[in-house]
Amino acid sequence: MTAFDAARYGASGIAAEYDDLYAHEWDTDGTVDCLRYLAGAGPVLELGIGTGRLALPLAAGGLEVHGIDGSPEMVAALQAKPGGADIPVTIGDFATASAGTGFSLVVLAVNTIFALPDQEAQVACFANAARHLAPGGRFVVEAWIPDLGAFRHNRRVRHRVLRDDLVSIESAELEPAEQRMRTTQAVFRNGSVRLYPANHRYAWPSELDLMARLAGLEREDRWADWHRRPFDDHSTTHVTVYRCPPHPRSP
Ligand SMILES: C[S@@+](CC[C@H](N)C(=O)[O-])C[C@H]1O[C@@H](n2cnc3c(N)ncnc32)[C@H](O)[C@@H]1O
Repeated sequence: MTAFDAARYGASGIAAEYDDLYAHEWDTDGTVDCLRYLAGAGPVLELGIGTGRLALPLAAGGLEVHGIDGSPEMVAALQAKPGGADIPVTIGDFATASAGTGFSLVVLAVNTIFALPDQEAQVACFANAARHLAPGGRFVVEAWIPDLGAFRHNRRVRHRVLRDDLVSIESAELEPAEQRMRTTQAVFRNGSVRLYPANHRYAWPSELDLMARLAGLEREDRWADWHRRPFDDHSTTHVTVYRCPPHPRSP
């Protein structure tokens, strides 16, 4: 496995402005509703729990929620929020770290599967998610569909946010041979610029399905979004639910 630092994402300083930069972009209420539907009575484990965007409303609704995250800075931001200190978080790489067993739902939201550096780490992550699940439990993965046609000569500049007080622009470069995309987001605010690198090892949904099968999980559903709209030829993202068999398979 490639040498990889699971703390890297948060080491950029992004924790301080994460909620502000992404709050507008994601349908948090719709995501939380769907996660409640998938979790049943819980407990829930979120891989890459971050600042608690999903974990806090899930816990406030009465579910037992645990997390794994590589970034002490992101977790400190979670713990500073009301209710955040009550959520147990393991600091470590979610491809390998353990937070116990018997979860009814393991969650990996917003493309975070692609934060792992290579196929081997992603395969390990699926196996690790399966180890955390109770029989019949679910592993839900949200990710984008790679859109290589949006790049010219493997490069793309994307405008992300335009506000009176803030502009955010993301510059990206593909390395198709390794299915990698290197990005740096430049955030201009109050006369200063901050740079946030984030690298992705992208994969198509079919490759993720194979990783799930290697981990002994079965695909239960694939939707275009958290409102469970049908996944089709025009979908740009997917929310895929994998399920642990209700009874251990006989050898
Ligand atoms: C884009 S944020 C998502 C946070 C949260 N799930 C949400 O939906 O707002 C990704 C999070 O995953 C964490 N992360 C990325 N790679 C990781 C890894 N290999 N192991 C543990 N945490 C990781 C980062 O530190 C960050 O907190």
